[in-house]
Amino acid sequence: MIDAKNISKKFKQQTAVDAISFSVNEGENFVLLGTSGCGKTTTLKMLNRLIEPTDGEIFINQKNIRNENAETLRRSIGYALQNTGLFPHYTVAENIAVVPKLFKWSKEKIRARVEELMIKLHLSKEYYDTYPNELSGGQQQRVGLARALAADAGILLMDEPFGALDPITRTRVRNDFKNLEEFKKKTIVLVTHDVQEAFELADRICLMDKGKIVQTGKPTELLFKPANDFVKTFFDEQRLQLEYKSVTIKMLWQFLNDNGNIESSATEIAADRNVWQALECFSLNETDALIAHKNGITKKISYASLMNAFNQYKKAN
Ligand SMILES: Nc1ncnc2c1ncn2[C@@H]1O[C@H](COP(=O)(O)OP(=O)(O)OP(=O)(O)O)[C@@H](O)[C@H]1O
Ligand SMILES: [Mg+2]
Repeated sequence: MIDAKNISKKFKQQTAVDAISFSVNEGENFVLLGTSGCGKTTTLKMLNRLIEPTDGEIFINQKNIRNENAETLRRSIGYALQNTGLFPHYTVAENIAVVPKLFKWSKEKIRARVEELMIKLHLSKEYYDTYPNELSGGQQQRVGLARALAADAGILLMDEPFGALDPITRTRVRNDFKNLEEFKKKTIVLVTHDVQEAFELADRICLMDKGKIVQTGKPTELLFKPANDFVKTFFDEQRLQLEYKSVTIKMLWQFLNDNGNIESSATEIAADRNVWQALECFSLNETDALIAHKNGITKKISYASLMNAFNQYKKAN
């Protein structure tokens, strides 16, 4: 759906983005990850021509965006800015309605859409006519998300959409957003410097450093098959937790013994749950075994067989 070919951006002497190429499939969540200044925002802004590349071409739905009207292109792509970018002199409703208004939707249709999104993003009705500076940071972030979703574009560009929030609020806003049907069906390019967030949201991660792509792949590929030492070191601090969170029971299935003979308490768990969630089940429910099903087969899994399967999976990958 999105094809970036050898794109570069130079600002005077500095090369912010250095001949990078990537493709994003329809419906995919593609996460640009990297430390501050590595060129994430610049890359994202080139996708809707807020920044023009110095070199290279970008295709969206096979059309070279250079040949499209920049305004029309921008309206057709949802965009959530770093630091919300809300208009301070617009109310919450007016902020959410910016793009639908440009599309000249009727007043009734706009109102209905704004109300629908406020409910979906857990913004109380009473904020309809409120100005952004009277809202908390988390609420402002929710308005920014609602605005990006408003015109129901197929593509969504999101720049640190949960940034600048405390960890608890950040997780809450992120989870609410992740559970939206609208989120699930869109093609999304999301920028973050937060490793956990990248792993939670990404189908594929594109890890950047100094304007270049270091590795693109599924979260498990970056973890278990790092392209070089930079990739390896980047995840080292949180490695164990990331590994537990990115490997599901389904992925371990062939290595899991069936401990059908355990005669004690057991807890059902869905096979698409990850190892971290399975471990939580053991510790929170004080259960001796988990019961999982896949393709009509049921396995009773002890703590020891879970850890054993996880280690075998790691060796095999
Ligand atoms: N308008 C500009 N003029 C000159 N240099 C710029 C401009 N915009 C960005 N840069 C430079 O390009 C580099 C990449 O910036 P960019 O904003 O893309 O980084 P980023 O990865 O989004 O960082 P952060 O995580 O801090 O938002 C930086 O070194 C920055 O100083
Ligand atoms: Mg940025």
